[in-house]
Amino acid sequence: MEKKIVFSGIQPSGKLTIGNYIGVIKQWVKMQKKYNCFFSIVDLHSITTYKNNFNINNNILDTLSLYLACGINPNKSIIFIQSNIYEHTQLSWILNCYTNYKELNRMIQFKKKKKISKNINTGILFYPILMASDILLYNTSYVPIGLDQKQHIELCRNIANKFNNIYGNIFNIPKPCIFKNGNRIMSLQETNKKMSKSDKNLNNIIFLLEKKKDIFKKIRLIKTDSKKCYKIKHDNNLGLLNILNILSGLTGIKINEFKNNFNNKIYSDFKNEASNIIANFLGKIQENYYNIREKKKFLKDIIYYGTIKAKKIAKKNLFKIIKKIGLKIKI
Ligand code: TYM
Repeated sequence: MEKKIVFSGIQPSGKLTIGNYIGVIKQWVKMQKKYNCFFSIVDLHSITTYKNNFNINNNILDTLSLYLACGINPNKSIIFIQSNIYEHTQLSWILNCYTNYKELNRMIQFKKKKKISKNINTGILFYPILMASDILLYNTSYVPIGLDQKQHIELCRNIANKFNNIYGNIFNIPKPCIFKNGNRIMSLQETNKKMSKSDKNLNNIIFLLEKKKDIFKKIRLIKTDSKKCYKIKHDNNLGLLNILNILSGLTGIKINEFKNNFNNKIYSDFKNEASNIIANFLGKIQENYYNIREKKKFLKDIIYYGTIKAKKIAKKNLFKIIKKIGLKIKI
């Protein structure tokens, strides 16, 4: 039986965070054993927000190196850059024509961005359709994502269903894979919002390439209450719960086990131990990363072969869709 297809991607819009790792990359590493996986670096999505990004090529190579350092295996999975496969944008235009404007206007991420900026480009509005194209182009069955992307996958499923109702079973209807633990790692200091690589307050983020001393500093800055000890029974400090969630997400050890270990510890010991666990974990990824990042030819070969493989499938599938909607005339 043919293996089912998994598609997912990350924007190369800055250094990846521990939220990206726990929310998705860790899951990708597991999924590549069982499925045919496509892991894209979605640079076209990143230009909706990042302009004059002269560093985009470096950011792409950084992101690719992090994929590999975390355990994505280019012999098992297809890794490619979104903008190298023109079929994504071509399908995106087609899907625009099958999506109601009101559906896009309802997207939470769009509404949030509209609220904070008056100067908003249409790329941000159409962003979920490009995402749907990424997914539908490869007949994807599963899409591993963090919780913030859930609504976009629902939209993708609606578009695919609408299309199938008109033209027959063209698209697989993809399912989101949102993992129970760590699907929404919160900001370190502002625990009401998710940790995001574009946050201006760097004390909110732990990057995968964060230096040990900065991990300690950022965790030390998390507010604790006036009592001196961590007590499970008074467990309502969201900053500390977020740390427990991060520890569990990284190590796979249950949150309760950490809670028991930290019970009755003074907060500074709790924070030091947590920082140590995180720094040790990231240290291994960082060692891999710095080894890989130097090998430019190796990285470019991965992109080259990934592009060839993805392109072949994308081209074939797009041709089928174009034919189905009646746009192709033989000349
Ligand atoms: P992006 O680049 O913002 O984030 C990449 C993935 O990481 C997840 N994530 C998190 N998970 C848990 N806690 C966090 N704090 C956290 N921050 C980020 C995101 O949910 C996401 O899954 N539009 C997408 C990229 C994309 C895509 C696709 C994903 C483009 N096409 C097709 C899946 C399928 C995005 O901007 O993700």
